[in-house]
Amino acid sequence: MAVSRASASRRPGRAKGRMRTVRGVAAARRAIGAWRARGLRIGFVPTMGAIHAGHLSLIRQARAASDRVVVSVFVNPLQFGPNEDYAAYPRPRRRDHSLLAKAGADLLWEPGVADLYPPGDRTRVRVEGLDAVLEGASRPGHFEGVSTIVLKLVNVVGPDDLWLGQKDAQQARLIEQMARDLFLPVRVHRARIVRESDGLALSSRNRYLSREQRSSAVALSLGLAAARRALQDGERSAARLRTQVRKVWRDWSGVKEDYVAVVDAETLSPVSRVKGRVLVAVAARVGRTRLIDNFEWEPR
Ligand code: PAJ
Repeated sequence: MAVSRASASRRPGRAKGRMRTVRGVAAARRAIGAWRARGLRIGFVPTMGAIHAGHLSLIRQARAASDRVVVSVFVNPLQFGPNEDYAAYPRPRRRDHSLLAKAGADLLWEPGVADLYPPGDRTRVRVEGLDAVLEGASRPGHFEGVSTIVLKLVNVVGPDDLWLGQKDAQQARLIEQMARDLFLPVRVHRARIVRESDGLALSSRNRYLSREQRSSAVALSLGLAAARRALQDGERSAARLRTQVRKVWRDWSGVKEDYVAVVDAETLSPVSRVKGRVLVAVAARVGRTRLIDNFEWEPR
């Protein structure tokens, strides 16, 4: 990938297109510590791999803001429920390497489970109040897994900037809160959702969809678009906004609602009327695949 002049000047002494890969915690610390000793600004993009254009957009933004970009690929067992897809989660390692190198990641950190959860590991992090609603209600324990692993990763990498996607709005909100509560010396950024041309939000799980399911999956973003239009037309009732989404979904028999929610963007508590910034979030099953999508909106 070409390094633009602007980003090259932000990245002193960076060897173009050379990505290092490390596995252990100590090796990651050494590689990053050497950059930090030179006063370089570190951006960090945590992922579970199965890299797609959504991840790549985070890396692009991290590159523009930092001197060095660290990407972790770790399928975190702690955030998967017993009946979820941990074992089946896609792990296209070679493809990921090549995409990440091309996108300009400087360091790929690929820890193993025993690196991050060595025998005797006990500490768990919970962000109370934000972790039991929406995704947390459907996936008990999920966010404890997320906040615990993100804190571990951030403690090893020690980034100046942490890049997260709006795609997982609740996750981003929770990690922002954790960073604030625990005085983590990191700036948390949220990047906008990258979508397919028909509106489907990119997700590593989209590859589970059959052709027919893939066409139905567009219902999530279509439903949200209807709610957004209603908001723009002045609708303020959360119940009627939810109805807008469900009306669209009625036309797609393959889409089974898990939730349609209108919540305060900060507290994630349900609102009955839209007065401040809200998160409109949906989750649905298409076949056996669970998909999520959302948007945030604020009356002017
Ligand atoms: P993963 O699902 O791999 O996502 C990594 C990051 O990419 C997250 O911040 C996610 O919100 C962002 N992302 C995913 N799809 C996106 C899209 N279509 N547009 C923009 N950003 C997108 O989220 C996780 O991994 C894990 O929970 C993790 C934070 C790594 C902790 O294990």
